[in-house]
Amino acid sequence: MPRPFQSLLNNLDLARKFSLLLFLVFLGGILVSGIALSNILNQNAQNEISSKALMMIETMNSVRHYTNTQVKPELQDRLVSEFLPETIPAYSAREVFEKLRENRVYSDFFYKEATLNPTNLRDKADSFEAEIVDRFRQDGNLPEMQGFRSTPGGDLFYIARPISVSAQSCLQCHSTPNVAPASMIERYGPSNGFNWKLNEIIGAQIISVPAHQVLKSSRQAFLLIMGTIAGIFALAILIVNFWLRRYVARPLKRMAQAAEAVSTGDMDAEFEWDAKDEVGSLAEAFRRMKTSLMMAMKRLDRYRISKRTMDAEGRSSEF
Ligand code: HEC
Repeated sequence: MPRPFQSLLNNLDLARKFSLLLFLVFLGGILVSGIALSNILNQNAQNEISSKALMMIETMNSVRHYTNTQVKPELQDRLVSEFLPETIPAYSAREVFEKLRENRVYSDFFYKEATLNPTNLRDKADSFEAEIVDRFRQDGNLPEMQGFRSTPGGDLFYIARPISVSAQSCLQCHSTPNVAPASMIERYGPSNGFNWKLNEIIGAQIISVPAHQVLKSSRQAFLLIMGTIAGIFALAILIVNFWLRRYVARPLKRMAQAAEAVSTGDMDAEFEWDAKDEVGSLAEAFRRMKTSLMMAMKRLDRYRISKRTMDAEGRSSEF
């Protein structure tokens, strides 16, 4: 133990020593449990947020699938004469999601098929999304990316999956304007959403869900739990301190005072402690010691008196 710490310990009374020891143990305990708890709560919060996002992205994929397999074939006849964006999966998914966002609970949720060169400019990837798309383009085997994005409205958690030109049929509308349906060009113009290549990754399907609420409540839970633990620890230290003072430190001090008084000749100094604990045994031993001391003193006195009288008699007989 370092010397300054040891001399500090030596200068403290028993109750303080114990309190300090308990405080150090509790501090260690709080630190370790705090780190563990914070990790668990964070993990739970992440799981909660990401499961929400996953469910939504799967729902959007179902909408896309439904549009492709059920809506589009039904409207095939009309598609010859006019262009119906309702038959385009990207369009229907986005429209369904925008409807969902009208509900205030979901107004902070976002769905986007962020594309570098989109047909509909509302799908244009912003700089953050473009970085994600670039990552997917660089690493063709990356199946998914997730993470946090901070926005003025608060932190968002996103899950992104690459979108590739998976079929030759896509190129009918996304290769060059002259092969695309005229009705589509009429609606979207000839400059956006073309020149895509087969199997090229052209964008990312990104779902963003608000994270701040979940993270906030996990932070609140952390503070509440840690506050409770710290409160219990503080109470424990106070109670131990009180106990030590009342049942050990104070009786020992009184006994020391009594011993001090006896040592200066005050044989009436008493110390009473009835408890059957160690302090009680010490008090009992002290009482016995005092009685023996008193008996020894009496014997000594008697001896001195008899010696004095003997001396006096001896001396008087000399003269
Ligand atoms: C019949 C024409 C047509 C075909 C075929 C087609 N698309 Fe599109 N695609 C469109 C139109 C039109 C839009 C814009 C919809 C809107 O207004 O949101 C679009 C939008 C998209 C978007 C959203 C980004 C953007 O450009 O606005 C993606 C991603 C996309 N298509 C991918 C594909 C893929 C992959 C295929 C093949 C599996 C495909 N498309 C086939 C016409 C088509």
